Amino acid sequence: MLRIGVLVSGGGTNLQAILDAIATGEIPDARVELVISNKQNAYALTRASESGVASAVISGKSFKNSAEFDRALSRALHAAKIDLVLLAGFMAILGPDFFTGLENKVMNVHPALIPAFSGPGYYGLKVHEAVLATGCKVTGASVHFVTPEVDAGPLILQKAVEVRQDDDAETLQKRVMEEAEWKIYPQAVRLFAQGRLTVHGHQVIIS
Ligand code: GAR
Repeated sequence: MLRIGVLVSGGGTNLQAILDAIATGEIPDARVELVISNKQNAYALTRASESGVASAVISGKSFKNSAEFDRALSRALHAAKIDLVLLAGFMAILGPDFFTGLENKVMNVHPALIPAFSGPGYYGLKVHEAVLATGCKVTGASVHFVTPEVDAGPLILQKAVEVRQDDDAETLQKRVMEEAEWKIYPQAVRLFAQGRLTVHGHQVIIS
């Protein structure tokens, strides 16, 4: 049984997509054991409790520096014997201390086709605003393994989504979620659960 921990900050629709994919059997032999939010009022916490999943709030504000925050998150995940960590709309940057013992065991979903519109400052609606300001005709979503360098870890899956002429950031965000994020995140977790992902340098081989 794959024990999954999910880090969230907001609405938690990607968390929901993972919970639903486990419930339907799309992700076999896995369970979300723990949801951690760095925001007290994240709706994702309600989703966790509605699915009977344990949750905790660990806020960066409670620590004197980011390394201590990283270690507190890491301790909570290790205590719950988590095998795979999913960042799902988690709006904090994790430092090297977080990753000890978790190399190639942390995934993130990003709402653009990395390396476009990624890195520090590109998160949530800001990504879609930048895509529209650039006049892109196509955007999408990416799932990747997380390393201390923001949005730069090995890519697992990507999916393209059309940008429409009458889009605003909200309509584009919704389409990217529906057509890409909620599909490729569960698919990537399924591949991990089936032992089908191998990282060679910067490339992820899917067997
Ligand atoms: C999602 O679009 C996710 O890709 C993005 O925030 C949204 C969270 O939604 N994450 C980032 O921008 C991280 N760099 P959710 O809370 O409903 O899953």
